[in-house]
Amino acid sequence: MKIFLDTANFEEIKEVATWGILDGVTTNPTLLSKEKEDYKTLLKKICEVVDGPISAEVVSLDPDGMVREASELVKIGKNIVIKVPISTEGLKAMRMLSDKGIKTNCTLVFSPIQALLAAKAGASFVSPFVGRLDDASHIGMEIVGQIVTIFQNYDISTEVLVASIRNPLHVVDAALMGADIATMPFKVLQQLVKHPLTDVGIKNFLADWEKVRKG
Ligand code: G3P
Repeated sequence: MKIFLDTANFEEIKEVATWGILDGVTTNPTLLSKEKEDYKTLLKKICEVVDGPISAEVVSLDPDGMVREASELVKIGKNIVIKVPISTEGLKAMRMLSDKGIKTNCTLVFSPIQALLAAKAGASFVSPFVGRLDDASHIGMEIVGQIVTIFQNYDISTEVLVASIRNPLHVVDAALMGADIATMPFKVLQQLVKHPLTDVGIKNFLADWEKVRKG
């Protein structure tokens, strides 16, 4: 399973890029609004340090506007992927962009059928939002499982990108279900690395090594 960072914070991205595990980045207008830098400069810097898909979202509500915005965003870097919210207008835009050879990530997906429609419109990625589904008293990961099954049933190559991840269990479940990608905040990625038994183990090894060293 590929690991993406769900942030527009350059320091976090630069740090994780050195870990040897980062496959891509997802941003959205909310994440970009938290940063001080101009969004185009920021996206360009992210494209330079991460060799993988970088999602940037369009905000127009009509297909022509979405395509116009996308044409500008793809100039920022060759790895930019256009995030398009699911809607009839979004489907039209994703079809137009796909026909132009521009990759899209269908966002704000909350049902398996929305994901199927996005795939049919040519989306390269679909992003079910598990955390927000959980918040609304649905089981977000069930929707992910259904999308994975439907895509397997019909040999659909669109990648399932699990988004709105809030904790390590979402990541474990995504991997068990065979999702292609999990995108997560820096904090969750840090939590994935750590285990209390690892910390205790290192502490004990170091203490014992001191005894070896002193003879
Ligand atoms: O990138 C979109 C998604 O991951 C947002 O997550 O935490 O705002 O629901 P959240």
